[in-house]
Order: sequence, then structure tokens, then C-alpha cells
Amino acid sequence: MAEIKTIGLLTSGGDAPGMNAAIRAVTRAAIFNGFKVKGIYRGYKGLVDDEIVDLQTQSVSGIMHHGGTILKTARCKEFMTVEGRQQAHENIKKHGIDALVVIGGDGSLSGARQFANEFDFPIVGIPGTIDNDLNGTDHTIGYDTALNTIMWCVDRIRDTASSHERLFIIEVMGRESGFLALNGAIASGAEAAIIPEMSTEVDQLSELIQSGFRKSKNSSIVLVAESPATGGAMGVAERIRKEFPQYNLRVRVTILGHLQRGGSPTAQDRILASRMGAAAIDALLEGQRNIMIGDDDEKIVYVPFSKAIRHGKEIDRDLLELLKKLSI
Ligand code: F6P
Repeated sequence: MAEIKTIGLLTSGGDAPGMNAAIRAVTRAAIFNGFKVKGIYRGYKGLVDDEIVDLQTQSVSGIMHHGGTILKTARCKEFMTVEGRQQAHENIKKHGIDALVVIGGDGSLSGARQFANEFDFPIVGIPGTIDNDLNGTDHTIGYDTALNTIMWCVDRIRDTASSHERLFIIEVMGRESGFLALNGAIASGAEAAIIPEMSTEVDQLSELIQSGFRKSKNSSIVLVAESPATGGAMGVAERIRKEFPQYNLRVRVTILGHLQRGGSPTAQDRILASRMGAAAIDALLEGQRNIMIGDDDEKIVYVPFSKAIRHGKEIDRDLLELLKKLSI
């Protein structure tokens, strides 16, 4: 394998709190080990469009407590084409980049895997997404902060829900996974979570209504993952209007949306990002490539891209039972 002297670093896909802490860790750990670091703006778009700058230790000072990403991010259509990836490879050669560290979610790591295979190029991924939907890691960077944001919001909605004795349907992010909805529901004491993983097994809404959400309570809160599989909060509210009109006047919808992606990262996300960022450099030093850094029971592990991006990371079904038990 060719010697690695210069490492390119990018953030891609949906931003996640803690990405800046990861940028700082990758940059500093790389420089500590004698590498040069190039920052690539706007994810793969910056590779295609040649938006590449040198990063020094000072370039990443004072950033770890900020949400978002100083390198900006994008979802890049050109990189999905052979021509786009070819152009990206030309720019990589032009800047003397010998390896890439990619911070992002499922789509970003799928792109990394394809590029790595096509050009036989070393890439290490760092899981950065609020969805927590990558396999082989207990947590992704940004998930804990988003969960805390959801809890903070639901606490406030709870006040008005109980004053007016209403049923609130609150939509949270998670296009294909219910981690935020399920754990957000437990953390905020919600009555139910409607998640994509369960959409074909039971009718979660009917179950909630059948279990008599107003039998023992004056108000209820249901968290719904935004996924097409759940119909989102609007879809759930629409069904209540049609199928359970007796509750119609009491139903309200709140969509938390992109506020879940912002904000200063929690201590847990900053620590995870710092550990994973430094581990990405260790992995390159050990000759690893085409792997994602994972966290398994507090230990750093190397997860092959093929495993990390396999869909269907399992939710903990005991948590669903717990939610039911605690919401009687
Ligand atoms: O993948 C992270 C995520 O926040 C998903 O939960 C959500 O569906 C999506 O990104 C939203 O993407 P965009 O910012 O492009 O609207």
C-alpha cells in the first residue's frame, strides 16, 4: 500500500451536532502523527468542484461546542455518476491526498464504499447522523444531542397538552429508523412511539387508541418517526380524524423538523466524536481501509462498510415493552 502523507477530510449528508468535534479530533490527531490535512468543503461536492483547503491545528480551534459543520455539507448528485467520481479522483490526485476520512451517515458511507472500490483508495468513515441507523456502532455522532433536544421539546409540549387535555402527535426525524422516536418517547414519558420497524407488524395507532389513551389520563403524547412507513404525524392525525372522530377535537400535531439537527453537542457526543476522530487516524496508521469507526459497548471497533450500511439496524424491542408498561 502506498505511504499515506496527506489525509482529506469531509462531512457529508445531513449535518449532526458533534461533527465539528470530529473534525477537530481528526485534524489534530492527524497532525500529531505527522500527516498533512486537507479540508474538503460541502462533502463530495467539494471533491468534484475542487473546494479543498489546508487545515492546521488552529483551523479547528474553538469549534467543538458548535453544532453544524465548519466544512459545510451537501448531498451531491454528481458524485453518484461515474464522471463525477472520476473528476473527484482527479482533484484528489491534484492535491496529493492519499486517504480520505468521511464523516456522515448511510448515504455518505455508501458513496465512500463505491469510490474506495472503484479507485482502490483508502477511506475511513466516521458515523455522523442523528438517526443512529448505522450498523456496527451503538451510537452515531449527533444522536444523543438530538435525543436531548426532542426531550426538551416534548417536556414543553407536555405542559400545554395536560393543561388542555389534548392528544399531541409529535413527529421526529428518522426516515428509516425509530431510534429517535422510541428513545425520545421513553426519555420524555410519552405514551407511545410509532416507528417504521413495527409498521408491518401491528397497527400501532389502533393499539394506542384501543388501549384507551384517555381511560386513565387527561392528555397523551405520541412520538411518530417521519418515515413514509408510519405516514408521519400528519398521516396519523388524518387517520384519527377518519377512524376515531370522537378524539378529533383534541388532536394537535407538532413537527419538530430540522431543529433536531442543530444546537451545541452534548458531552456524550463531543466525547464520542473526539474518540472516533482520533480512532480514524489510528485505523489509517494500522493500514485499515474501507471501514467505519464504531462504538461497541464503549470500545472502538472497525466495521467494514458493507456491514455498516446494511439496512435494518435492530431496535431494542424490550424498549417497546418498557414504553407500554410505563404508559398505563
Ligand atoms: O439523515 C438525517 C436526516 O435528518 C433524516 O432523519 C431526515 O429524514 C433527513 O436527514 C432530512 O434531510 P434534509 O435535511 O435533506 O431535509
